[in-house]
Amino acid sequence: MTGLLAAGPPPSLAGLGLGGASALVTGAAQGIGAAVAARLVAEGAAVLLCDLDVDRADALARQLEASRPDARVAVRRTDVTDEGDVRDAVDDAVDRFGRLDVAVNNAAVIPDHRPLVDARLEDFRRVTAVDLEGVFLCLKHELAVMAPAGAGSIVNVASVNGRRAQPLAAAYNAAKHGVIGLTRTAATEHVADGVRVNAVCPGATRTPMMESAMARRGVDADQHAARLSPMGRFAEPSEIASAIGWLCSPAASFVTGEVLVVDGGYLTC
Ligand SMILES: NC(=O)c1ccc[n+]([C@@H]2O[C@H](COP(=O)([O-])OP(=O)(O)OC[C@H]3O[C@@H](n4cnc5c(N)ncnc54)[C@H](O)[C@@H]3O)[C@@H](O)[C@H]2O)c1
Repeated sequence: MTGLLAAGPPPSLAGLGLGGASALVTGAAQGIGAAVAARLVAEGAAVLLCDLDVDRADALARQLEASRPDARVAVRRTDVTDEGDVRDAVDDAVDRFGRLDVAVNNAAVIPDHRPLVDARLEDFRRVTAVDLEGVFLCLKHELAVMAPAGAGSIVNVASVNGRRAQPLAAAYNAAKHGVIGLTRTAATEHVADGVRVNAVCPGATRTPMMESAMARRGVDADQHAARLSPMGRFAEPSEIASAIGWLCSPAASFVTGEVLVVDGGYLTC
């Protein structure tokens, strides 16, 4: 090596290098998933929006199509707990766009707050079916097409609850810790195939999930954010999408098995 640029010029900071990429996002109809889809479309990627809520996903698709003349966006009703749905969604992305370069496994639900001793097994299973098994099923079918192609980037959306246990949320904490374990397993198994697998742990983010959780607990969302967050506010979904977009992209080409916390200093301060 003879100089700093011996391996070629650094990736442009003007864009993430996702132009022409093919992507799939689960839980894409609203919140962080919708912001990720918008970011990927803005970068020039073709995106399959996968969600249970097709009406909302269709409305988002129309907005994204209007956002740039060459936008390629499609919607598929997908339940991430159903292996057939997940396999069909991956196949659909490949059929429509020619290949699958990027996947963001984001769909999740949250449980009602309850002490572990009072938690019902059916509620535990309902949450982990979406938040943990759903990520497992997505990884399995995404890797099955990315590994033979010799390239791909997957980001799993975990949570600060994957790094720290919040009381009264056993199923969610367990699932999000598990997502980090799945991420590291998949990264290890596929590093030699050219597929990168990373996780993002958002802190409290202003989304419909967060707002309905606050409303159910009778908590004022802004006061709660001011008290909990060192920055005194929630993250906006676009701030989480920026980190996810970067990890998905060639700008993060040497990053795999990483768990990126995007929490405004919550876990540190
Ligand atoms: N909002 C936060 O404060 C926060 C904090 C940490 C982590 N997260 C994580 O970020 C991700 C997105 O959260 P959000 O706040 O945007 O949630 P949200 O509830 O606003 O959106 C979630 C989306 O997932 C979809 N979905 C739910 N079950 C599904 C299923 N079985 N199959 C397919 N789609 C399904 C919903 O229809 C919805 O569109 C989740 O993984 C969540 O755990 C959120």
